[in-house]
Amino acid sequence: MTSKRVYIRTFGCQMNVRDSEIIYGLLIERGWKKAESIEDADCVLFNTCSVRHHAEQRAYSNMGMLAKLKRRRPELILGFVGCTAQKDKDIVFKRLPHVDLIAGPGEIYNIPDYLDAILDGGEKVMAAGMPERPECKNPLYRENKTSTYVSISEGCDNFCSYCIVPYVRGRQRCRKKELVIDEVRSLSLMGIKEVTLLGQNVNSYGKDLKDGSDFITLLEEIHTIDGIKRIRFVTCHPKDTTIRLFKTMRDLPKIYNHIHLPLQSGSAKILKAMKRGYSPAHYLGLIDALRSYIPDCNITTDIIVGFPGENNEDFKDTYNMMKRIEFDSAYIFKYSPRPPAESSRLVDDVGADIKKERHAEILKLQKEISKKKRRLRKAAVLPMA
Ligand code: 5AD
Ligand code: SF4
Repeated sequence: MTSKRVYIRTFGCQMNVRDSEIIYGLLIERGWKKAESIEDADCVLFNTCSVRHHAEQRAYSNMGMLAKLKRRRPELILGFVGCTAQKDKDIVFKRLPHVDLIAGPGEIYNIPDYLDAILDGGEKVMAAGMPERPECKNPLYRENKTSTYVSISEGCDNFCSYCIVPYVRGRQRCRKKELVIDEVRSLSLMGIKEVTLLGQNVNSYGKDLKDGSDFITLLEEIHTIDGIKRIRFVTCHPKDTTIRLFKTMRDLPKIYNHIHLPLQSGSAKILKAMKRGYSPAHYLGLIDALRSYIPDCNITTDIIVGFPGENNEDFKDTYNMMKRIEFDSAYIFKYSPRPPAESSRLVDDVGADIKKERHAEILKLQKEISKKKRRLRKAAVLPMA
């Protein structure tokens, strides 16, 4: 048993937040302690994200800065894990020679063994062969004792042309329904009141399980678990989102009235080039239907500006659609090519200045809309207070 301290810095999405928690849980089971800071740690892991160029570069430069610390404390173990570690497995040791461990998202259950091997004086470890992770019972360790994430699937089958996820997290594998239910039940017995179900595309839950389960039946079953008072989920893909989901959200009171439904673009041409599998008209139809079932549903989205070939007209389509829908909030990203994702083979022809301008324009619009929506929501709840 070791009593060494580990510090994990997380980049990227909720999947990564949850993965970091799993790594902490596995290490704590082996006697490790959680360090409060990098200075206080015997091992520092960066759980990296590769979805956009910017986040990736931040992880590289922050890990680069730890070279000095490693020179001062050569026994400090440094690990570069997660999505960028998977994508760049062959270059991380060259770019960051002071790093001891590279481990892709499929390897998280093995990290304690790899750290033991390094501690025993072994060589550096590079473990990023397969992005797919085995189906495992996750540790119940949770940082937040009332609200927590529960992963229901891993990876993605959609292959949106801009997206790197299928290459770093592999194809979609759903966790068996019994395993998910068992985890939520155990969490409820520990006092957890709110669960957020996590998947790259929660609506396609069950497709590979071939046991008749789907996302709605999973929601219905979780809804019967006594201690759980609120259920959330991310992310929904518009092409797989159905009216049945909206009815379920309306009828099951524990389901929180929020949907994150990434639009990405309001241009039919760009959506096609992104291989999103829906048109702007289909998306608008979903929003109208959702609002007819749940008028006050909180709706959030993701937008990419500056995808290859996006001209002023395409951009205006996105702008007008956002104006029409009035999302409660939106994450707005500037496109960056992510090899080997398909669109990285297209010319990144929208200049940096134009991307910046479009980003600022949409951000300004959304800020006004978000402010207005907050005001309206406040006005709607205040009289009842
Ligand atoms: N460039 C910019 N944004 C991207 N996203 C995914 N890939 C890229 C890319 N290559 C955004 C999408 C996605 C969110 C998680 O990140 O909007 O929904
Ligand atoms: Fe999450 Fe995708 Fe980033 Fe991986 S690449 S951390 S799955 S957002």
